[in-house]
Amino acid sequence: SARNHLPKDHVELQRKEGSSIPVSEAEKLESTLSITVVGASGDLAKKKIFPALFALFYEDWLPENFTVFGYARSKLTDEELRNMISQTLTCRIDKRENCEDKMDQFLKRCFYQAGQYNSEEHFLELDKKLKEKEAGKLSNRLFYLSIPPNIFVDVVRCASLRASSVNGWTRVIVEKPFGRDSESSGELTRSLKQYLAEDQIFRIDHYLGKELVENLSVLRFSNLVFEPLWSRNYIRNVQLIFSEDFGTEGRGGYFDNYGIIRDIMQNHLLQILALFAMETPVSLDAEDIRNEKVKVLRSTKPLQLEDVIVGQYKGHSKGGKSYPAYTDDPTVPKDSLTPTFAAAALFINNARWDGVPFLMKAGKALHTKRAEIRVQFRHVPGNLYKRNFGTDLDKATNELVLRVQPDEAIYLKINNKVPGLGMRLDRSDLNLLYRARYTREIPDAYERLLLDAIEGERRLFIRSDELDAAWALFTPLLKELEEKKIIPELYPYGSRGPVGAYYLAAKHNVRWG
Ligand code: NDP
Ligand code: BG6
Repeated sequence: SARNHLPKDHVELQRKEGSSIPVSEAEKLESTLSITVVGASGDLAKKKIFPALFALFYEDWLPENFTVFGYARSKLTDEELRNMISQTLTCRIDKRENCEDKMDQFLKRCFYQAGQYNSEEHFLELDKKLKEKEAGKLSNRLFYLSIPPNIFVDVVRCASLRASSVNGWTRVIVEKPFGRDSESSGELTRSLKQYLAEDQIFRIDHYLGKELVENLSVLRFSNLVFEPLWSRNYIRNVQLIFSEDFGTEGRGGYFDNYGIIRDIMQNHLLQILALFAMETPVSLDAEDIRNEKVKVLRSTKPLQLEDVIVGQYKGHSKGGKSYPAYTDDPTVPKDSLTPTFAAAALFINNARWDGVPFLMKAGKALHTKRAEIRVQFRHVPGNLYKRNFGTDLDKATNELVLRVQPDEAIYLKINNKVPGLGMRLDRSDLNLLYRARYTREIPDAYERLLLDAIEGERRLFIRSDELDAAWALFTPLLKELEEKKIIPELYPYGSRGPVGAYYLAAKHNVRWG
């Protein structure tokens, strides 16, 4: 796509100067794009999808002729949909120039169709409305399934049979969860493939759309200083950390059926691991990158019970305020054993990573909100300055941190001489703090991913064999946890999580960063 062949800034420069626009003019004018958000009345649609579409429109990334349709069972008029959308748009992008005008223009392109998710007839009605807007032009249609997974297949059946494009492309973005284990995921893939070809299915993992995750390959493959160190020879361990400082608030019903391992580790953290650890791809093409990710996943040892610890948050009072336990959520059974925290040690059995622990930690209701990749390097052999570090040589190792969120940053902990006549060393950071270095607002992950789907760029979406490989790593463990009814270690809401996570790390000679 034009966007990926040219750096974005270059594309924007061309646009400003009014010279050749990368998407051909003919294509822009003669084709139409219809984006149907299925489940438009829901939380994700309101919070993420409509705001992302508006941001793309605002930044002029959408084609000239586009329409947005909301589809759900709730009976809404076009006006009611617009009112609903406008509430979430204002809070995100209200400081921009001409925002009101742009918003009005955007809302005029938004329409609503009420219907059942399993009704071919209702999708036929949608098709009729889409055709009116398309006015006989080449039509490209994107469906975003922002609905609970039990109705994915119904919607795909009805949409593909009754509302596919006849002369352009039809693509479907599918939200997670993609099943709950290898079997159910395989079943979902087979069902979707009855109606769609693999290249029409865009399985989204929104972590792949995050700026710092997208930057991981740039960092590795376009700087000489990192890639040569990227192996067991220099890296002692890698940590992938996700923590949230709130519980399952409002999503307990969904969460209890999945748990933190399925919700965060099997997808978001594992995707980061695959990008981090893969070999150099032949090119930046989607298939070349995804081939390398699959290889890493297939080289990774499936998790066993001894590689994991699980936890669940319990109620807690602090400073006169009380915080609920996971099981206080009315949609969660009182005796639920679902983990809201897990830590795991993964090992990749290949020449590059043999013996290097990849530690993952993911939890809800912890003391802080952050997502990070931490790379701890080995000791300097025969370190001349050994005595400056006392007995704790671990304090002297380098550490590279990619802070995915909040406050995006990349920093490298190095040893440095404290200025002065003496010889005292300390650890300092070489720090790239995004908000200090770049003035531009960082786009939301959903903006990047929606634009990629519109442009047919599959690099950041999950291929079915990749999904199979990911489930193969976690399914035996998940089965064992459930069959043996493993009791999660309780940790107080707002704490650092169960101490078991420290023992697990210590077993592999690792200290959490
Ligand atoms: P919601 O529960 O809000 O559901 C979306 C819409 O689907 C609802 O507005 C409702 O519309 C319809 N719906 C809800 N339950 C049912 C049901 N049992 N049967 C039929 N229709 C139903 O989901 P979210 O918006 O939170 O999430 C959508 C998808 O995205 C899910 O797959 C979720 O796992 C995933 N996701 C969500 C995230 C989030 O932050 N919310 C984050 C990452 C992924 P109506 O009644 O009008 O038809
Ligand atoms: C979703 C999970 O995939 O990611 C949620 O289902 C989690 O449980 C969310 O809160 C976190 O996303 P972000 O982008 O807010 O870090």
